[in-house]
Amino acid sequence: MAGVKEHYDNLLAPYYSWICGGSELKFEENRKFFQSHGIRPILSGVALDLGAGSGFQSIPLSQAGFKVIAIDLSHDLLTELKSHAAGLSIATIEDSLLNFNEHIPGNIELIVCMGDTITHLQTLEEVQILLDDACRALEDNGRLILGFRDLTLELKNLDINNGMITIFARNRSAAK
Ligand SMILES: C[S@@+](CC[C@H](N)C(=O)[O-])C[C@H]1O[C@@H](n2cnc3c(N)ncnc32)[C@H](O)[C@@H]1O
Repeated sequence: MAGVKEHYDNLLAPYYSWICGGSELKFEENRKFFQSHGIRPILSGVALDLGAGSGFQSIPLSQAGFKVIAIDLSHDLLTELKSHAAGLSIATIEDSLLNFNEHIPGNIELIVCMGDTITHLQTLEEVQILLDDACRALEDNGRLILGFRDLTLELKNLDINNGMITIFARNRSAAK
């Protein structure tokens, strides 16, 4: 069976944004989402986008003033992201999101892993490792946003946003 990277490289990447309804629509959707939840830079201003894809979250976060580090396995999707990022502060990293610690400058204000990326991880242990690492990487009062589909519910129509769960967590641990 093909792995995640092969799946995007060989099949999905050229069509991903189109399948989702187009980049502009998704940028606007996420811009509104972040605005309505008061997500703006107030600490270091560094945001990490795990499984950034073609930039549906990275672009609006950068436009909101964050310095974004966008990590993804897909070279083609990161190339597409960069095509939208002229003048914006977005560093793209082609690597597994599980290695994000190797690419961050220090503690960070915001980590997002949205658009059903977390369900691409292979095991629950990998999810646990990611959450532990994310907790350690966040500044005090930094935030983690996870967005993923509730696969316990039957998909009722073609809307891929149907059944999306968004979890917000704030890091309040004094000792790390
Ligand atoms: C469903 S897309 C979501 C992309 C984007 N966040 C969005 O909302 O459109 C999942 C993305 O995660 C990436 N991905 C999956 N597993 C990954 C991993 N272990 N490390 C880095 N990227 C990964 C895929 O290449 C793909 O771009």
